[in-house]
Amino acid sequence: MTTFTDAQSDAVAGAIRNRRTIHNFEPAPAPPEEEVLAAIDLARWAPNHHLTEPWRFYLIGPETARKISRLNADMYGQSRGEQAEAAKYARWLGIPGWAIVTCLRSDDEIRQREDYAACCCALHNVQLYLWTRGIGVKWTTGAVTRTDRFFEIAGIDPEREMLVGLAWYGFAAEVPCVQRKPVRDILHRRP
Ligand SMILES: Cc1cc2nc3c(=O)[nH]c(=O)nc-3n(C[C@H](O)[C@H](O)[C@H](O)COP(=O)(O)O)c2cc1C
Repeated sequence: MTTFTDAQSDAVAGAIRNRRTIHNFEPAPAPPEEEVLAAIDLARWAPNHHLTEPWRFYLIGPETARKISRLNADMYGQSRGEQAEAAKYARWLGIPGWAIVTCLRSDDEIRQREDYAACCCALHNVQLYLWTRGIGVKWTTGAVTRTDRFFEIAGIDPEREMLVGLAWYGFAAEVPCVQRKPVRDILHRRP
């Protein structure tokens, strides 16, 4: 087992504490693909009961991103009107990097829960690592990701795989400030 130096532990703690979900990205350029591939390589080291390796990663190119953006804007426009639809479409087109993370489905309910949990750890590995490389991520599960058409556009079989997240990545235009409850509010002791 490796014992980290204090400085190394501080760096890990800092990445965990300071990573933020990025909502606004610099429009271009997209981060180098090697960084994303390195993050996916690390994703595989997430804890995973029975080593089922249930995660699947899809790197989404501009054509597919545009189709998803169109679908989302159409959905959005139905309740918000044309102007909001156009603004939403433009916003999504400006997102520099797109990936989809899925989890293989299982007929076994316990295995499905455990596999989904492992996939969430895997996606967090991705976002934590990218954060250390100066690349921000937004993990989303918005309404569009719950449509059949989304899976169809992405070429993913929804009978075989479930969505863990649509992950946008890029250089942050803005880093939000987010707080957490104090530990005393969430920590319980039992004799
Ligand atoms: C499973 C999951 C789904 C999420 N879906 C969305 C989403 O659809 N839209 C969004 O703005 N943020 C989404 N987020 C990001 C959370 O809103 C974010 O983690 C939370 O606000 C805390 O901010 P932080 O990540 O900067 O600590 C999601 C996060 C997780 C783990």
